[in-house]
Amino acid sequence: MKRRTLIVGGVAGALGFGALLRPRDVGQEHAPYFRALSAALDNAGQAKPTLVVDRALLLSNIQTLMAHISDRFAYRIVVKSLPSVPLLETVMQVTGSNRVMMFHQPFINRVATRFPQADILLGKPMPVMAAHNFYQQFPGGNFNPQRQLRWLLDTPERSAQYAELAESLGQDMQICIELDVGLHRGGVRSDEQLIAMLDLIQQSQHLQFCGFMGYEPHIVKVPVGNPITYRDRAVALYQHYIDVARQYLGAAWPQDVVLNAGGSPTYQLYDQGTFPFNELSAGSCLVKPTDFDMPTLADHKPASYIATPVLKALDTLQIPGIDLGGLQSAWDPNRARTFFTYGGYWKARPESPVGLSNNALYGRSSNQEMLNGSRSIALRPDDWVFLRPTQSEFVFLQFGDIAVYDGGRITDYWPVFTETTA
Ligand SMILES: Cc1ncc(COP(=O)(O)O)c(C=O)c1O
Repeated sequence: MKRRTLIVGGVAGALGFGALLRPRDVGQEHAPYFRALSAALDNAGQAKPTLVVDRALLLSNIQTLMAHISDRFAYRIVVKSLPSVPLLETVMQVTGSNRVMMFHQPFINRVATRFPQADILLGKPMPVMAAHNFYQQFPGGNFNPQRQLRWLLDTPERSAQYAELAESLGQDMQICIELDVGLHRGGVRSDEQLIAMLDLIQQSQHLQFCGFMGYEPHIVKVPVGNPITYRDRAVALYQHYIDVARQYLGAAWPQDVVLNAGGSPTYQLYDQGTFPFNELSAGSCLVKPTDFDMPTLADHKPASYIATPVLKALDTLQIPGIDLGGLQSAWDPNRARTFFTYGGYWKARPESPVGLSNNALYGRSSNQEMLNGSRSIALRPDDWVFLRPTQSEFVFLQFGDIAVYDGGRITDYWPVFTETTA
């Protein structure tokens, strides 16, 4: 064979191979669900980045959750993942639960005032000054912190600080102890540590031991090994610390002890069998951000979206400087068009229309974010783009009131938590 034929053949082969590798057009129009949601937002006069919760899907997720746990465990609502008073109220009403888990001092004050029947368990240990600030900002009322607020403590040192605070305020406090059941994010890791804490609590005139919290999301997240093995190890550790505390406390073991575990990723792992805890926490699974797309939550549905208007729609991709935009779009049909959205750079993934993606070469923007898509995507300025939050915690707080979507309309606006204590 001649050398020229060889080269030509090689080039043609490479081109053929390249054509095989070339991404195919994955762009689509909005599915009917998102067309209806777009119309609802337009009819409601919306024109800014908006956090939408689908009420019917939220209610269906609540039903799913309660079907798994209702007669086996009490349900504790994780407020950081559902950070809005009316959202929390809806979940409380439908589940009949007044138990909440909280992670932020100003929001604890809000909930104590707004829900005087709430039973609040801290989800993390707070600096003692944060506890001090809670009492200072608490205006009084029907909520009784002495019975209804359970501070979470992780070390003997912090227990001593809280004992001192309780003494100085003359304030009785419920104390829950954090256990390390395998997550290794702090909490009690030895019998000695546990006994030292129980000792300090017993010695205090004002602290009352009320139970344990042992969070265990690692059992579905560690990349190697079987979740059930990790679950059983966590359960055995939990049981061990209960035995140690029961033995130490004897008759002082609380009658109405709180033994908290679980979170969205793991709560379904306790559907069958006997376990030492008496309540499970969950929040995120009720709105299901993308971080919760996991086999243990297969029967939960996404119920929240970020909706944002398209500001600009271009039929090319141009990148300032060494313009590789033309090359990018020539190679990848999904980079043929460019859209700039109102805001961006949220902890979120583009959801609809299908086929939109960020452009790493151009970069991200919280002001006007670039998204690329193929020519199959016919978005125009003022159309809506939908993203799914990767998490609800914090993300839900970035958009003002939540737009509640129900029966094809925006029916309500739910304020989210703010830092003020008013
Ligand atoms: C102590 C604790 N319990 C439970 C949860 C579960 O919350 P979610 O169901 O929203 O994942 C968390 C989440 O961070 C947590 O820190």
